[in-house]
Amino acid sequence: MIVTTKKLFEAAYGKYAIGAYNINNLEQAMGLFRGSVDSKAPFIIQISKGARSYTHKKMLEGLIISANEVFPDAIFAVHLDHGDEESCYDCINSGFYSSVMIDASHESFDKNIEITRRVVDAAHAKGLVVEAELGQLGGVEEHVAVDEANAKLTDPRQAREFVERSGCDSLAVAIGTSHGAFKFSGTQGLHFDVLSEIQKVLPGFPLVMHGSSSVPQDEVARINAAGGNLLGAKGVDDTQFKMAATLGVTKINIDTDGRLVWTRVHREYFRDNPENFDLRPVGKIFMAEYAKFIASKNEKLGSAGHLDELHKLVG
Ligand code: G3H
Ligand code: 13P
Ligand code: ZN
Repeated sequence: MIVTTKKLFEAAYGKYAIGAYNINNLEQAMGLFRGSVDSKAPFIIQISKGARSYTHKKMLEGLIISANEVFPDAIFAVHLDHGDEESCYDCINSGFYSSVMIDASHESFDKNIEITRRVVDAAHAKGLVVEAELGQLGGVEEHVAVDEANAKLTDPRQAREFVERSGCDSLAVAIGTSHGAFKFSGTQGLHFDVLSEIQKVLPGFPLVMHGSSSVPQDEVARINAAGGNLLGAKGVDDTQFKMAATLGVTKINIDTDGRLVWTRVHREYFRDNPENFDLRPVGKIFMAEYAKFIASKNEKLGSAGHLDELHKLVG
């Protein structure tokens, strides 16, 4: 069942975080639905601009509609990840998405508010909700490169004014994470002090953590042993997810870790089966491994086991 992120956040706030997973293809969709239903967790499907143009934007919509029929117990939202104005309006008008993210975080404070407000007005008029971003993550996003050293954490003093003036429904905050497989330098970690200050000025308001892959070291070691070169890859400590949830984080974005599962499965499979050229055996292994990965992530997020109670809430 497709629901808005607003419904999911109302149920989760202060107790657990919902996993927001990016998908690009059929195998990821199957693994995501299977792993979430197996772990009885609600979830958010994220579709980036890159994912929409990978094949054709309609292909992913078709996949999700079918998955909704194949997995009738699933409860999830469909969300545009890191949209600009144009892609936000396209998704708002598609009649398919339940929420969009407008990412104008690279703009000035006032310009970010102005752009976000326009998207919020268009989205609310059609019953969708909007995630906005204040502060800048380190690492690389589509078209926006931010040097980690200059990454700007969200300023708690600005957060309340931003939410009031923009009218956004949830806020992505920069608290030390970055996108991709190479996070943190030295002993840096999550800035819970900043998060706690943001929660104080925005009590009860859903916060979002981007760049939250944990980049498991065993996964990295297996990829490197099978011909990869991901030396120094490092991620977020996922035992900290539940702490973040108690401080108002209701959505935690994970993409890179799924790509690592894909890379490990395919590198190992073709290393060990050099004579094979059939895509299905390795695809089957990936779907099963991705489902296992999703189920274990949902345990770390605290979202596992909440599906029955959500069915009662959303009817
Ligand atoms: O934050 C970015 C997400 O990981 C999506 O990545 O734009 O390469 O699809 P993408
Ligand atoms: P990761 O690169 O840490 O998986 O972050 C994904 C993300 O924030 C998508 O918006
Ligand atoms: Zn992101």
